[in-house]
Amino acid sequence: MGKFNLIICLFLSIFSFSHAYKTVLQPITNKDTGEVTGVKKAKLITVDQDPEISVDFPAIWNEFRNPWVKEPEFPKLLGTSVHYASQCNFTMNHKELMDQLSGEKFDVGITEMYDHCGIVLLNRIGAKSHVLATSTISMESINQFIGIPNLYSYVPVSVAKASDQMGLKMKIGSIVSMLGLRYYYYRFRLEMDKVIDHHFGVGSSSTSEMIGNADMVLTNSHPYLDFAHPTLEKIVDIGSISVDEPKALDERWLKITSVRSKTILLSFGSVAYSTLMPKEWRDSIVQALKAFPDVTFIWKYEKPEDNFAVSAPNVKLIDWAPQLDLLFAGKIDLFITHGGLGSVYETALAGVPAIFIPLFADQFRNAMMCERKGFGEILPKEKLGEPQFIIDLIKKMLESESYKENAEKTGRRMKSRPLSPREQLVKHIEFAAREGKLGFLDPAGRQMSFIQYYCLDVLGILITFLLICSLFKGKMKND
Ligand SMILES: *[C@@H]1O[C@H](CO)[C@@H](O)[C@H](O)[C@H]1NC(C)=O
Repeated sequence: MGKFNLIICLFLSIFSFSHAYKTVLQPITNKDTGEVTGVKKAKLITVDQDPEISVDFPAIWNEFRNPWVKEPEFPKLLGTSVHYASQCNFTMNHKELMDQLSGEKFDVGITEMYDHCGIVLLNRIGAKSHVLATSTISMESINQFIGIPNLYSYVPVSVAKASDQMGLKMKIGSIVSMLGLRYYYYRFRLEMDKVIDHHFGVGSSSTSEMIGNADMVLTNSHPYLDFAHPTLEKIVDIGSISVDEPKALDERWLKITSVRSKTILLSFGSVAYSTLMPKEWRDSIVQALKAFPDVTFIWKYEKPEDNFAVSAPNVKLIDWAPQLDLLFAGKIDLFITHGGLGSVYETALAGVPAIFIPLFADQFRNAMMCERKGFGEILPKEKLGEPQFIIDLIKKMLESESYKENAEKTGRRMKSRPLSPREQLVKHIEFAAREGKLGFLDPAGRQMSFIQYYCLDVLGILITFLLICSLFKGKMKND
């Protein structure tokens, strides 16, 4: 198709389009992480951090760095809703920038949803088609308003410690998570509504209305890995799009991975630092790994000079590893990870079985997804202090053929999905660029009341009818 004009509002994620005049807008909500878009081919506009939040916000964000000991505190997380709204207000107070962006008459605007600001911005600058994006598998605050049925009996919410086969206890836990999450995003919307009131006029619209009117939603779900769930045509699953083309391993890595008959990779991503892991756990892991003299363990550890594994010659601490290339080279027999979605997709596509040590947010659900597909097991972090538990789990995974078979099967299926995530994305965005508003994809249920939605009106008539019948029958008998 011809060129179209596209704007992307970022919270933290990355996109790339080759057939669009692109503008990327990134408010620097956290100066500590800064501009991390990786944008190469688009015009990048950044907006400074709102001075009002420059102290409190990064401090809370930094607490995410140590989820080993405790998960980020809920009240503090709730507090960030004020920060995001403040940053949003600050961004929109740049009147000249807003006018300039309005003047560009964007065909499509894609915005990440987490901070809830982007959709407000897209309305402010009048982009024609609004596309929401979520870096997790799905997002409560979107589903609730665009008309996806929420089926809590078998579709676990994004932060639940649950799979699609829930016992009563797990289901209660999942529903409690759901309520917490709903409240969390409710607070986000509440604060953002104040910003809307200020910039659009009091009561003229709301965050939930803007979300509900979005034309498309890009999710980070891959339907062949995720739990099967009801969805809508306007939902476009592009999960695993972040996985790059793997490269061949160089001499050095080929050597490292051929020292022993098996190699296991340990990496806990870039948010949780291994260096912050409690010492007892670290020592207990080393003790467990020593039980496998025929296995090389490559442990991605930010400060290898800490040298805590000297007693284990088979453990190699290394501050950077080409994770993707290693997994795809067929050199890794098992991957031990925190279960961030990026790592989950890499290990699944590469067909490598994994042990997950989920720490917070969506990591539990991600891990359970892989467990359900038969190529992953969960190692609860509370068990990290028990070397024997770790030994038994690793042994089980190395000895059983089924993990490898299931991993390969899942990877093969994901790779042969009829349209790749990249094609899904490009074709759908081009369609949105051609068509503009996509109201015809709106399910009618979205506008219905609770009574209409669940057909309680019909149920009411039925019950009334039965009641009248039974009364009538009773009366006939008495007569
Ligand atoms: C947004 O910014 C304006 C101008 O600084 C201020 O008057 C207003 O109170 C702010 N509103 C919110 C909701 O932060």
